[in-house]
Amino acid sequence: MDTIHALAAQLRRARRILVLTGAGISAESGIATFRDAQDSLWARFRPEDLATPEAFRRDPALVWRWYAWRRGQVAAAQPNAAHRALVELARRRDTVLVTQNVDDLHQRAGSVDAICLHGALMRTICSVTRLEIDADWLAANPGEPPRSPHHADGLARPGVVWFGENLPADALDRANAAATQCDVVLAIGTSALVYPAAGLPGLAQRHGAWFAEINPQPTPLTPAADLVVAQPAGLALPAALAAWEEA
Ligand code: OAD
Repeated sequence: MDTIHALAAQLRRARRILVLTGAGISAESGIATFRDAQDSLWARFRPEDLATPEAFRRDPALVWRWYAWRRGQVAAAQPNAAHRALVELARRRDTVLVTQNVDDLHQRAGSVDAICLHGALMRTICSVTRLEIDADWLAANPGEPPRSPHHADGLARPGVVWFGENLPADALDRANAAATQCDVVLAIGTSALVYPAAGLPGLAQRHGAWFAEINPQPTPLTPAADLVVAQPAGLALPAALAAWEEA
């Protein structure tokens, strides 16, 4: 059996599926990944200048503008065949989608209840209280960044998780619970270098799940995978759904 049919057979047999996605699933939408390509974000920029609380304290305008640039890129992009295939998978089987991505392409493709471990690029929060700042207020209060409406010492900041910050506890709890309850786990388009997200497939495997990785490149998780589909997600996922009936 080829790898696509093997994947389709396991998905079809599954009762509960956990899907972990990373930047690679949005690569075919034209969104730069962080690590794998020459033009990836961490090849061009230093995370410690842009994606840490210290960077924001040092130069809030620089950080604000970098995230505004990324927001613009995401707003101009469209979900791709892999995002759409995961919506279809959730129609066929009980699926929990956990993403490290801060773009909103899963949601725009139609995935509901995606667990966003690293926050959301399109959200803005107060740097002190972390309360959400709504888009209407932001449109009426320009600034790079504007002062927070929620706290006198606060600034508006992107609603993403930076290096050195904790993941949202509720999202992590739900992701861990899903890992212990699934019988199939997929890791799609992640380099599996950033924890705790990268630990989810292993946690699921320790609870008996079958694990497939979809990624054109090997990762630290590859040796432990039960199946490796070394193809772009936008090809592999629709192909697996198309092979469903034959699997
Ligand atoms: P990375 O950029 O580290 O890894 C992207 C992965 O996607 C690589 O392993 C690529 O081989 C793979 N890839 C590229 N194109 C693909 C395609 N068409 N189909 C399938 N896979 C493809 O991105 P993440 O693993 O998501 O964190 O990075 C994890 C975290 O590190 C991010 O959430 C971000 C970053 O720093 C924060 O910002 C907190």
